[in-house]
Amino acid sequence: MKKFKKNILCIGAGYVGGPTMAMIAYKCPQYKVTIVDINPARIDEWNSDNLPIYEPGLDEIVKEARGKNLFFSTDIEKGIIESDIIFVSVNTPTKTFGVGAGMAADLQYWEKTARQILDCAKSSKIIVEKSTLPVKTARAMERILTSKNSKIQFDVLSNPEFLAEGTAVNDLKNPDRVLVGSRLTKSGIKARDELVEIYANWVPRDRIITSDIWSSELSKLVANAFLAQRISSINAISVLCEKTDADITDVAAAVGLDSRIGSKFLNASIGFGGSCFKKDILNLVYICRNYGLYEVADYWESVIRINDYQQKRFVLNMLTTMFNTLAEKKICIFGFAFKADTGDTRESPAIYVAKRLIEEKAELVISDPKALKNAKKDLDGIDENVSYIEDPHKAAKGSHAIAIMTEWNLYRDLDFEKIYKSMIKPAFIFDGRNIVDHKKLYEIGFNVFPTGKPSLTHFK
Ligand code: UDX
Ligand code: UDX
Repeated sequence: MKKFKKNILCIGAGYVGGPTMAMIAYKCPQYKVTIVDINPARIDEWNSDNLPIYEPGLDEIVKEARGKNLFFSTDIEKGIIESDIIFVSVNTPTKTFGVGAGMAADLQYWEKTARQILDCAKSSKIIVEKSTLPVKTARAMERILTSKNSKIQFDVLSNPEFLAEGTAVNDLKNPDRVLVGSRLTKSGIKARDELVEIYANWVPRDRIITSDIWSSELSKLVANAFLAQRISSINAISVLCEKTDADITDVAAAVGLDSRIGSKFLNASIGFGGSCFKKDILNLVYICRNYGLYEVADYWESVIRINDYQQKRFVLNMLTTMFNTLAEKKICIFGFAFKADTGDTRESPAIYVAKRLIEEKAELVISDPKALKNAKKDLDGIDENVSYIEDPHKAAKGSHAIAIMTEWNLYRDLDFEKIYKSMIKPAFIFDGRNIVDHKKLYEIGFNVFPTGKPSLTHFK
């Protein structure tokens, strides 16, 4: 007797594939879920007590399901042969070479995976695009999968993942929506319904929406572009606030109370990071240019320009306020992750800031509760004058300035009196996340530079 109702495979055990499949396994004991990856070290970590990614609540879910109906393996071929449904969650970074370099999605892993599925499959399968992809990628996938003209049928679905890092477990448990795009043919709709049935084990039916496959692929790019656009919009206003003595927090609150606008995702900051926003907007821009839609491409590209500008002006502000020289000054960076509650540093604004400060010949001390391992990799080869100290009190000792890069909660309640005493005077704090009590810090003695608010300095 077959022990499981269906065998689900996921190719790519990353930040998206790992947590998503763990949740499916956790919620659906009737399915066997196997996650495979070409990277054996990563698979070993998924099978150990130290998971390769830090995500609140993930350890519990993995421990609960692993070995029962959740398995991690490097045997991709066996996984393909045994599966009924294959999720593809391999990475699709920005192309670094040839046509579209720096803009288009690099689909080489994607295509290799499609060919591997075709070579190994011995029975019909549903293929689910989990990775974020350019609109129309499913057509390429279908063309590869039908290139052998065999009797095996492949139905390709688009099921983009909307989870955000740091809140992935909750986002997966209670998603705003699950989107499934399919061909509107009889077999496309049958495949779509099979996937919907999996999610319906825990997601209310009215939150599972379906569409044609192209709308689904495009919706994911557009959702990320809209989210990033909100951050660039508020950040563009933050600089105006600094010039006009307005306060970005008050402006965002007043604007966000309009129910048509909404209050979420309006935190002015050092800028957005993460593996998705920049990559997906560049991809959107590239697609628009490809179709000759230059005005549309320029519009979305400006979201990235503002994000770059926000980071550049942060460092320039540090330089000019600290008397136009940072050489040999010790600067402590609070937070290296691209956001709180993750160890991920991909596209983190902290990388840009650190590199620029190194160019200015500053000495850096980097502090972060989860991201120091990645920070070391990011600054490999240029970190002669960089030290990595997890404890923020120790990290700040003897520094001229603190720069807050990540909104970790722990930075809100530090003993700033003690920190101030241990620093070189005049002591500066540049808050790229607006998470500390600026007035209190000013009263302690700091010269305080928030984002999008008047600075508080003791200089006459
Ligand atoms: C990435 C992108 O960031 C996201 O936009 C996209 O939607 C899916 O891919 P993420 O899970 O964060 O998401 O990527 P990453 O953590 O790099 O994981 C991808 C995994 O795929 C890696 O573990 C890599 O080893 C694996 N992989 C890659 C394969 O198993 N086979 C390949 O051919 C290529
Ligand atoms: C994002 C999308 O939110 C998610 O739906 C998609 O699946 C993947 O991309 P992620 O990049 O993991 O998720 O995190 P997110 O919470 O969106 O934050 C992205 C960046 O924007 C972070 O650097 C964050 O600090 C920054 N941000 C977010 C702000 O600067 N201000 C805000 O108000 C919100």
